Amino acid sequence: MAAEKVTVSIIKADVGSVVGHSRPHPSMLQAAKEILADRQKAGVIEDFYVTRVGDDINLFMTHYRGEGDCEVHGAAWECFQKATKIAKSMKLYAAGQDILTDAFSGNVKGAGPGSAEMSFVERGSEPLLFFIADKTEPSAYSLPLTRVFLDPFTTTGLVIDARAKKGFDFEIHDVMDNRKVVMSAPEEAWSILSLLGDTSRYAIKRVEARSGVGPACVVSTDKLNLTAGKYVGKDDPVCICRCQSGLPSVGEYTQPFINHTMLVGGWMRGSHIGAFYPCSPEDSDPTYFDGPPRICCLGFQLNNGRLQGLEPLGSLGGEHTPVDFFGSSTFDQARIDSVKASRFMRSQGPFVPSILGAEEMEYTSRPEVVDELKDRFVDMDAARSGVCDHDKDVE
Ligand code: 13P
Ligand code: 13P
Ligand code: MG
Ligand code: MG
Repeated sequence: MAAEKVTVSIIKADVGSVVGHSRPHPSMLQAAKEILADRQKAGVIEDFYVTRVGDDINLFMTHYRGEGDCEVHGAAWECFQKATKIAKSMKLYAAGQDILTDAFSGNVKGAGPGSAEMSFVERGSEPLLFFIADKTEPSAYSLPLTRVFLDPFTTTGLVIDARAKKGFDFEIHDVMDNRKVVMSAPEEAWSILSLLGDTSRYAIKRVEARSGVGPACVVSTDKLNLTAGKYVGKDDPVCICRCQSGLPSVGEYTQPFINHTMLVGGWMRGSHIGAFYPCSPEDSDPTYFDGPPRICCLGFQLNNGRLQGLEPLGSLGGEHTPVDFFGSSTFDQARIDSVKASRFMRSQGPFVPSILGAEEMEYTSRPEVVDELKDRFVDMDAARSGVCDHDKDVE
């Protein structure tokens, strides 16, 4: 009999926050913990961890029910309903922001929350990293993930680990035409980058090891699939990564966030470009121009379907303590670099490339301005068509 697959899920939503788009109220997180503790006792999920980045509530869950499961998604839906109710009772900002429908239909896809889920046979030791981000978009992961999976100067494992050397398959989504393609690295590395460089259209959904180790990482892209043809890219994204032994190591995944200041779309009104600011969830309040785009990286070992962190042996879910990678002082300089780069981008004010291109703006007044001016715009070709004085003289 094939070994049973464990599923690791993050389901996330922003359902309101204290002071603009800053952070959920602690009672909203507490309500989610209680609901998930109840589901754990009922045997629906094996384990869970509730956290946040900026104003987004992130529910980490482990279970044996597979991806897109009605009970697991239903548990998350209930958490967000309860948290929305609390947010509304406190008149918090944008209460219920990511809840797009009143009726739950068995899955959060299309209902507003984002999700990333992966299923695999648990290895003898299974280190996991959970990246969670605020004020950006799913394609923001394309730059760090291509550094990790395509660049041997980032990931030495691509050169010295025989299984990693076999390469990786990339599932890439075309947001505009709602289609996907699987491409193989290293053979198609340059073509993969050719697509992913256009972050307004293409995003990584999954990366799978070609050595047979299974999935390497998965990114939440729900809203991208929601409305093909219309830009709905802004959706604070999460990414789950499996590490080591044929996959990139923990440190290979975290390295790009120190070596490179990465510009990503989506901060301030979903319409600006700023630099990824790696930090602890505790430091993830978007305090400068609603940003810079925050990213946190939390680590757990999987232990027979349970999340093993630093908590005392045998303690129940909700008391977990993950390893907080970006909370480390090692990332101090990266944070300084992020603020410096973000300030430089802000020096451009409302001009590109500080703001996103026309088709990517979350909202814009430009069509109204153009409409208001329609009788004042003068067609310059028509104005030029008269015979000029010089021509008259020649006649
Ligand atoms: P250790 O020898 O400390 O287990 O490290 C191995 C490794 O691959 C670190 O990336
Ligand atoms: P959120 O998507 O995090 O709610 O941010 C909205 C925004 O654009 C704040 O400037
Ligand atoms: Mg918000
Ligand atoms: Mg947010």
